[in-house]
Amino acid sequence: MLLLLLLLLLVLLLALAARWRASWSNSHWRRRGICGPQGCPLLGNMALFALGQRSYGEVYAQIYREHPGLRYVGFYRLFNEPALLVRDERLLREVLVGSSFACCADNAVNVDAQRDVLASCNPFIASGDRWRKLRADLVPLFTPSRLRQTLPHVAAACQQLRPFVERRLIRERFEAKALATRYTLQVIASAAFGLDAHCLCQDEQQEQGSEWLEWLVPLFQPSAWSLPETIALLHSSRLASILQHRYVPLSLQHWLCDLVRTSASANSFLRWLGEQQGSDLAGHATTLLLEGYETSAMLLAFALYELSLNESVQRRVHAELTEVAKRHGGLLLGHAALAELRYAEATLLETLRLHPAMQALQKRCTKSFTLPAQRWDTDTETDSSLQVALGTVLVLPVQAIHLDPQLYAEPLKFQPERFMDASPGLGCRFLAFGAGPRMCPGMRLGLAQTKAALVTLLQDYSVHLADQRQPPVQVSPLTFLTASKQGIWLQLRKR
Ligand code: HEM
Repeated sequence: MLLLLLLLLLVLLLALAARWRASWSNSHWRRRGICGPQGCPLLGNMALFALGQRSYGEVYAQIYREHPGLRYVGFYRLFNEPALLVRDERLLREVLVGSSFACCADNAVNVDAQRDVLASCNPFIASGDRWRKLRADLVPLFTPSRLRQTLPHVAAACQQLRPFVERRLIRERFEAKALATRYTLQVIASAAFGLDAHCLCQDEQQEQGSEWLEWLVPLFQPSAWSLPETIALLHSSRLASILQHRYVPLSLQHWLCDLVRTSASANSFLRWLGEQQGSDLAGHATTLLLEGYETSAMLLAFALYELSLNESVQRRVHAELTEVAKRHGGLLLGHAALAELRYAEATLLETLRLHPAMQALQKRCTKSFTLPAQRWDTDTETDSSLQVALGTVLVLPVQAIHLDPQLYAEPLKFQPERFMDASPGLGCRFLAFGAGPRMCPGMRLGLAQTKAALVTLLQDYSVHLADQRQPPVQVSPLTFLTASKQGIWLQLRKR
């Protein structure tokens, strides 16, 4: 009996201690005089994300919207981790481009370098001097002259896309992301490795043997594992090691290493990298492949979707490409013609405003620095400034910024005209490619390959919803990179 009582007492004490600990960590910001939402035990302010109900971008957007008077908000990520969500455009600039960059340059992602040897060569994942070295290796691949040398790979894939669509998709509903992934894999296999990925074959049998489709199509697709993997990647290195999570699965790592050994024909990224002393070929090949296909495929799929919803925009894209084609003898895939397709490019930027591939950038403080007072109406020089502690995550809520009516009038409307005159990088209002020293180095290539496919399709077809009564496309709440929940179902009609 006494033993039972003691046991009950112990359980009670443990429960009280856990409760006290939770409320102590949940008062982290209150104790520092920083405003923000009250978190719940363990899940902080991200319960809906942890339950697979909302994407992390939507959760951050809600916190952003609910605190209009603040430059930044103190809140709690999963596992009650205190974090700061930055709202002020000037502060965003400070963190991404300005004097605070050196204090929070690293992306807050958990990838184990031992388990994930190839993924850890990605500059997005690396930190410090290693990041500088890896990025310096890759940047020369994306100069304007290298981009021109890469365009023939893009044009070749577009030439395969045309008959593929003609034979397989015309008059049939199709899933736009699946088609776009075939195309971007075809481009990147050719541009990076000098190989034919057989993703856009006329011959269905040959295509069925495409290892590229087999290995890479499932990698970013939402599945039962997506949520724990996203949580491990963004919130918990402990969970990552319990799950033994690999961003690039081991079998894919082996396949990639074999590929690097057997390829590298002239005029490919690998050949150019091979000419550089000491560059890590297999690691860089993995980066180029993974960064090169998924984000651009998602962009192409969402752009086709937005055009199917916005007929007047589609008419204007059609008019522009007819006019530019006239000046270039019907050919739109050369460097000069692509550069003249400014409205088509604005359409892609507007698509990324509404559907950014990364719904938030998340940076970790590696050197303590000071933020000004939290409230807009407080003098920045007063002593209500905040000393950001080492290890704190700063969330830059891309999706919320892109949908802020103070920054974009009628933010839910699809209006490419917004980007016709403005340079997208200005003022850190457009963060689909990040900004500053860590900004996406492949932006020009990503836009060029997507634009080339878009105009190839629209030269011959108009694009429509597969079913006029279908509900709007929903974003998966489970994945790190934006993905659609049920696919993007469209139809093409001959013009
Ligand atoms: C539409 C297509 C693309 C989008 C929307 C996109 C978006 C992004 C974003 C948001 C980042 C993170 C920036 C930051 O941390 O502040 C990034 C980083 C990166 N992207 Fe892209 N990207 C695209 C295409 C590409 C392509 C085609 C390549 C190369 C083949 C590429 C290579 C990289 C690399 C290497 C990084 C890491 C840079 C660093 O941390 O220094 N991206 N991208």
